[in-house]
Amino acid sequence: MKKQLGFFLAAVSLLLILNGLTKVHAQESLYKRLGGYDAIAAVSDDFIYRLATSPDLKKFTIGLNADSQRKLRQHLVDFICSATGGPCFYIGKDMETAHTGLNITKEEWNIGAGLLAETLDKFKVPAKEKEELLGAVSSLESKIVGK
Ligand code: HEM
Repeated sequence: MKKQLGFFLAAVSLLLILNGLTKVHAQESLYKRLGGYDAIAAVSDDFIYRLATSPDLKKFTIGLNADSQRKLRQHLVDFICSATGGPCFYIGKDMETAHTGLNITKEEWNIGAGLLAETLDKFKVPAKEKEELLGAVSSLESKIVGK
């Protein structure tokens, strides 16, 4: 009986140690670390507002009717949700198709990236997550700029 109890306690200790190790090594998705769907929706709304009111960038969205604005907003939320490991499906166009014909310059891209950084600061996104999201966005530059 004593032997069985000893074995049982040893097994439980091992499980607890393994569980702890898994937690240390498992990195939560960027989606979760950003705060999930509601946080990403709030970030997207704030970023779109900045784009739409920026003296340099508002020309890109000024002609969109309310339905197109809603579609852009929802597609942006779904795109970021999906790209950061969240449970959303992005069903919009690929980035090159979506931005071809807009002729976004490198200067305008930099202004847009600055606006996104302002949004992330407003929501107090920690430095690590901010860097990861901005890094993921900067990898899209060649698909969006000069098209
Ligand atoms: C200076 C930067 C940017 C400008 C001026 C810009 C502008 C636009 C505009 C005007 C549209 C709407 C096109 C239409 O409905 O006819 C659009 C679509 C979209 N953009 Fe951007 N964009 C920029 C950067 C980005 C970035 C960094 C992302 C991703 C994080 C992004 C994601 C999207 C998505 C998901 C759509 C929707 C595509 C669809 O509805 O199929 N854009 N963008």
